[in-house]
Amino acid sequence: MARKIVLTSGKGGVGKTTVCANLGIALAKLGFRVVLIDVDIGLNNLDVVMGVENQVVFDLTDVIMGKCRARQALIQDRTISSLYILPSTHICSSNNIYGEHIKNIVDQLDSSFDYILIDCPAGVDAGFERAVVPANEAIIVVTPHLSSIRDADKVVVLLDNYNVEFKGLVINRMRGDLLLNGELMTIENIVRALNLPLLGVIPEDDAIGSSCSVGGRVQSVESARAFTLLSENIHNGSKKIFDCTYKYRGLMGYLKRNIKKHV
Ligand SMILES: Nc1ncnc2c1ncn2[C@@H]1O[C@H](COP(=O)(O)OP(=O)(O)OP(=O)(O)O)[C@@H](O)[C@H]1O
Ligand SMILES: [Mg+2]
Repeated sequence: MARKIVLTSGKGGVGKTTVCANLGIALAKLGFRVVLIDVDIGLNNLDVVMGVENQVVFDLTDVIMGKCRARQALIQDRTISSLYILPSTHICSSNNIYGEHIKNIVDQLDSSFDYILIDCPAGVDAGFERAVVPANEAIIVVTPHLSSIRDADKVVVLLDNYNVEFKGLVINRMRGDLLLNGELMTIENIVRALNLPLLGVIPEDDAIGSSCSVGGRVQSVESARAFTLLSENIHNGSKKIFDCTYKYRGLMGYLKRNIKKHV
């Protein structure tokens, strides 16, 4: 049986899709069979982030409408053979698609995979429900900003209405320089505010957002390491958190973060 994990946040644009893609890559590199399901109907971009948008033959709605089986709609990653993507559609109205439809697809894939990661849309309405119903674990993705944390807090409360047995936290886009300068909420304060186990901290990485990167696939050594630690924490319960501040400590680090501020 697969572990079924939804990546959710409430707030938009905090990095759910990026974390879903790169966590999937990291878990597959550990040797697990992983499928990523894009449930962000209409505003889907997991296929773009994974660089498979030109290979889509069938999508989520084709499976729901019975045009194909779930396995037929899967796209195998071009570099990691144990990683698959089930793309969503950008043209279909989502009005008649419910959580039970997605659960049915997840059930079809359950025995073939170790991990099923579900990319949830922003918000807490029907799209949220669709993504959460099939999951029994949730990763709440936040950035170190108050608006993100307030929205995540609402999501944590809402998740109690579903069959989600475990909830964990990922802090994305953490900047070590701002953290050391006292300009961001600390990791401890975020964890205390949400009262969730911390699964990982992902640094701000220019290479993720850069137009030269393939979608949001990690390019820098630092964020790749952060996603590896996250995947290990999720898989075996270890508690190794990437230290975003390491290159900003000491005299050189002090200069780096303060020179940056003044140029
Ligand atoms: N750690 C990071 N460092 C730098 N840029 C990042 C990082 N994580 C995400 N981004 C960038 O932030 C933007 C939003 O990311 P993403 O699409 O993953 O968010 P999302 O939560 O899935 O958004 P939505 O709510 O619209 O689905 C993208 O341009 C992405 O490249
Ligand atoms: Mg997204």
